[in-house]
Amino acid sequence: MFEIRGLRSTIEGKEILKGFDLSIQGGQVHAIMGPNGTGKSTLASSIMGHPKYEVTEGEVYLEGDNVLEMGVDERARAGLFLAMQYPSEIAGVTNADFLRSAINVRRGEGREISLIKFIRLMEARMKELDMSFEFMHRYLNEGFSGGEKKRNEILQMMMLEPKLVILDEIDSGLDIDALKIVAAGVNAMRDKERSFLIITHYQRLLNYIRPDFVHVMMQGRIVKSGGPELAERLEAEGYDWVKEELGIADETVGQTQEETGGCLS
Ligand SMILES: Nc1ncnc2c1ncn2[C@@H]1O[C@H](COP(=O)(O)OP(=O)(O)OP(=O)(O)O)[C@@H](O)[C@H]1O
Ligand SMILES: [Mg+2]
Repeated sequence: MFEIRGLRSTIEGKEILKGFDLSIQGGQVHAIMGPNGTGKSTLASSIMGHPKYEVTEGEVYLEGDNVLEMGVDERARAGLFLAMQYPSEIAGVTNADFLRSAINVRRGEGREISLIKFIRLMEARMKELDMSFEFMHRYLNEGFSGGEKKRNEILQMMMLEPKLVILDEIDSGLDIDALKIVAAGVNAMRDKERSFLIITHYQRLLNYIRPDFVHVMMQGRIVKSGGPELAERLEAEGYDWVKEELGIADETVGQTQEETGGCLS
């Protein structure tokens, strides 16, 4: 359903993703964990087509369609969605306007959602997420607290009904109750077809959103995979044992070979 093969991506001439492979079947939830600076957000941005990241090699397919050949808008229309680690603020565009046009772009001309239907839908989803209706008319993310931004990302996800959902540290900044609400929102969206890629630092989120697979990312690629028990071991023991097991000295990416004395593969 979603397939990444040998993905390499650079930013400002620095290679960050170094041959990333992952295959996600419909309905599956995959979690990616990994130390800071190992390329997790870069992976998300590269999949979404962020202009700063240049994909130099590899392939990404969503239901057989070549994602890398699509423009940014097309990727969203095809059903890719990213809840960002740091959602940006857009002054002058209300949350409701933003979401309505995002939905309409996906639906295409002549199939736009009516205003009444849209408002009903948005209110229903906001209720599920225990959000005040006030957020409909606030400018997108402007002045939102950290947790409010994250909840709003999930609202977007619920309304856009994507095929592949990428959540980049959706748990960071959420209080304990909000974490449960957001997890319930995600779980409500799980079905036989929709796939999830969940980037997180903490096993706790995975108690609420049970993953099928857990992957560890280091040096711009997946270095270890397992089930939920892998996340539990990482939570308890950290990453040193993985590095030892695999003989990895520096798990981060971005340094050139010269800087590391050529130790990076
Ligand atoms: N715009 C940029 N300019 C320069 N370097 C960048 C840029 N974006 C990412 N990098 C570098 O790429 C490396 C990987 O960053 P990335 O954000 O993908 O890490 P991450 O695994 O998501 O880390 P974290 O867990 O801290 O969120 C880092 O060394 C980062 O500094
Ligand atoms: Mg990140």
